[in-house]
Amino acid sequence: MQDLNPLAADLNEQIRSASPAVGGLLSELGKRIYLPKGILSQTTEANAQAHQFNATRAIALDFSAGTTDIMHLPVSQKLVPELTPERVYGYAPVLGQQALREAWKTHILRENPLLSQKTFSLPIVTSGMTHGFSLLAELFVDSGDLLILPDQMWGNYRLIFQTKAGADIQTYPFFNAASGFNVHGFRQTLTEATDEKLIVLLNFPHNPTGYAVTDTEAQQIVDAIVARAETGCRILVMIDDAYAGLWYDETVMHESLFGSLAGCHPNVVPVKIDGATKEEYAWGLRVAFVTFGLDATAMQPLEQKLSGLIRANTSGTSQVSQTLIRTAMQAQGYAEQKQHNYETLKARALKVNTIASDEQYTRYWDVYPSHAGYFVCLHLKSGNAETVRQRLLAEHGIGIIALGETALRVAYSCLDESGIEAVFAEIARVIEKG
Ligand SMILES: Cc1ncc(COP(=O)(O)O)c(C=O)c1O
Repeated sequence: MQDLNPLAADLNEQIRSASPAVGGLLSELGKRIYLPKGILSQTTEANAQAHQFNATRAIALDFSAGTTDIMHLPVSQKLVPELTPERVYGYAPVLGQQALREAWKTHILRENPLLSQKTFSLPIVTSGMTHGFSLLAELFVDSGDLLILPDQMWGNYRLIFQTKAGADIQTYPFFNAASGFNVHGFRQTLTEATDEKLIVLLNFPHNPTGYAVTDTEAQQIVDAIVARAETGCRILVMIDDAYAGLWYDETVMHESLFGSLAGCHPNVVPVKIDGATKEEYAWGLRVAFVTFGLDATAMQPLEQKLSGLIRANTSGTSQVSQTLIRTAMQAQGYAEQKQHNYETLKARALKVNTIASDEQYTRYWDVYPSHAGYFVCLHLKSGNAETVRQRLLAEHGIGIIALGETALRVAYSCLDESGIEAVFAEIARVIEKG
């Protein structure tokens, strides 16, 4: 066993005194990690004081034009002519560009009125949401820790938390008999888990079904978490908000559960993972955010730990990607363009719901309730999902996802409205032919 670095020990002490819950949730790696006072801090000092020559940064500078510029290749720079070379090629701060972090905090606050009286951190920029989850796994999950998830979920959680971090995944059925969120099953799983440390992951709008919770279900979820926290259990609640904002149904809640959970109980540590990935239509830019429902005293040492973890894996998120997101968010026409994309997806969602639940198809499948996001999911009444998928692909050139034996996921986000009818008709025909 490695000795604890004194800097790590000091951070652990600060975390424990600011938030015993966070202290109790840290993994062994979470306790060990720290940000060395090495090159980064010497560079920061030099940036402030080295007015003669600053030879600290591990970059190259160009003085040929009589000014100081970051060295770069003009063939590359000419592709992004409106951005300065520094904003394209320079290293971004480990936790992300300050202006982007502040802009995302403002965005979260605007979209989540429940947060208006709550304390929450400045978002930390990660290289996509997957990286955000991986960091949380490193910081909080030890082998054998219990992670509570629904049976229908985004598959990458298993890879990140089970395969990589060794978590013990306990699932509950996502839907209840009335096709609502199974709050009872969720509460029961929480109650039956005897561990003093629990990790919960919730995702609405949901992948794969497109389900979103109602206000009542949201309150029941919070009540279940608070009731378990009351027994002394420390609970990390990760809220995957990948599809935030893409709500198409007035009957469901149009904000994140994070707003209801922030400050709900001292033993509950809520963390929101969201991203430019889907919200800003920027999947491959790999810009996402991790935001904690914690105050500045707890966040200061926690940010040091996260800086250490980020330094040790990606070392930071792409500068040009952050610049593109930040600049777009300030640009004229930004809100209108987002609204346009939203309306396009909403029109597809409404059409998909009408067509998939048409009477002519009720003998082939049930449609899981879908109010938001990108997907609709069919529960087949006969046939095998993988066989149907393969035949659709081979015989009709239609690609969809088979989940388990009986579910098919259709990403209508990738279908033109005019093609929706044909896709469901072909699925039915393949099932019919058996
Ligand atoms: C529920 C959910 N969370 C997270 C992600 C991934 O986000 P990223 O591409 O930013 O890693 C996805 C992508 O499909 C998703 O469906």
